[in-house]
Amino acid sequence: MDSRGTILVTGGAGFLGRHLVSSLLKDGHEVWIVDNLFTGKHPDTWLTDFKKTVDGASTIYENGSQRVIFIEADLIDLLREELRAPGSAGFPDFEEVYHLAAIVGGRAVLIEQDPMLVATNHMIDSLFFQWAVKNTDHIGRALYVSSSVAYPKSIQNQGHEATHTEDMLVFEDSGTIGLPESIYGWIKLAGEYLAVVAARKYGLKICCVRPFNGYGDDQDLSYPIPSIAARAARREDPLTVWGSGDQSRDFIYVDDFVAALRVVITHVSDGSAVNVGSGVNTSFKQVAAIFAKLEGYEPEVKGLSEKVEGSFALRADMSKLKSFGWKQTVSIEEGFGRVLKNVKQRLASK
Ligand SMILES: NC(=O)c1ccc[n+]([C@@H]2O[C@H](COP(=O)([O-])OP(=O)(O)OC[C@H]3O[C@@H](n4cnc5c(N)ncnc54)[C@H](O)[C@@H]3O)[C@@H](O)[C@H]2O)c1
Repeated sequence: MDSRGTILVTGGAGFLGRHLVSSLLKDGHEVWIVDNLFTGKHPDTWLTDFKKTVDGASTIYENGSQRVIFIEADLIDLLREELRAPGSAGFPDFEEVYHLAAIVGGRAVLIEQDPMLVATNHMIDSLFFQWAVKNTDHIGRALYVSSSVAYPKSIQNQGHEATHTEDMLVFEDSGTIGLPESIYGWIKLAGEYLAVVAARKYGLKICCVRPFNGYGDDQDLSYPIPSIAARAARREDPLTVWGSGDQSRDFIYVDDFVAALRVVITHVSDGSAVNVGSGVNTSFKQVAAIFAKLEGYEPEVKGLSEKVEGSFALRADMSKLKSFGWKQTVSIEEGFGRVLKNVKQRLASK
């Protein structure tokens, strides 16, 4: 295998990060991860075939030509120190930098329990962009993971649902910026603006992605798709979903999600954003019905209307990503089938 460039993934021990790291390793890249394991999983638990050595603050995982350098650190502390004393993090030049580190959490964390905790993402992103623009000579290309939640809530309300096209959110005089749904969305919106300034004013080659709802087999059971799968695996009847259940999202399987990030980083460098979704929205009642069918039973599917449901409908326009040659490869039925299988294994091993 040819040796390719070195790549940094912040938040690389998280759900999306772990899949991205595997994809990069397969293509021969050395991967650096900075993660404080707030929600991420220690690489000991998923780089199981790798030989491990500890070198100061870094842990190095090697398997043949594959190599991962893991720094367990809060990105805020690490970048603040790196800005004060350049070189202190020991970073090499990076061909690509994927900035994924953020407090994400499910709806319970974002909206209900402690929404202000998510404001930490402002600090993470501010330091990331300050570091990145000082290091344009050492970073080939960068990617900022925004979110579909950065779009205005007004196009996601019942009766006003619209297919989200990228030009509905642009940082131009001609553009309109609406109110995002949550603190999480506001910070992603601000992050996108920092990316545009980093590109225009500092010459950083950076792109943004606006993912809709990524899901996958090993996602935490607190996320909607695996948690509905778990209820179907237990053959619950009625099979319940949050909110009215008529609210819908645009779901995309993690492998297609990761493929999209890798395509966008090579095609966009002016700070602008690209949607990542499937182009189809599916209601939570439909999600439950698909899982029930896969499980082979016919429960009553019911919304738990006392639990919040957030925006009513989110659907991505996918023309821009498709114009770069990206194609969805995993259908919702196939992806949900994989999730159900994995969730059953997890429930059986408890
Ligand atoms: N999964 C999705 O569908 C989706 C949709 C839109 C946007 N995103 C974005 O993609 C990125 C990854 O999301 P995910 O689903 O993998 O979530 P995740 O929670 O699994 O991953 C986030 C990672 O960031 C790490 N982290 C948090 N704070 C940190 C800090 N201060 N320093 C270092 N590391 C820190 C966590 O430990 C975790 O490993 C996030 O930026 C998220 O906002 C994801």
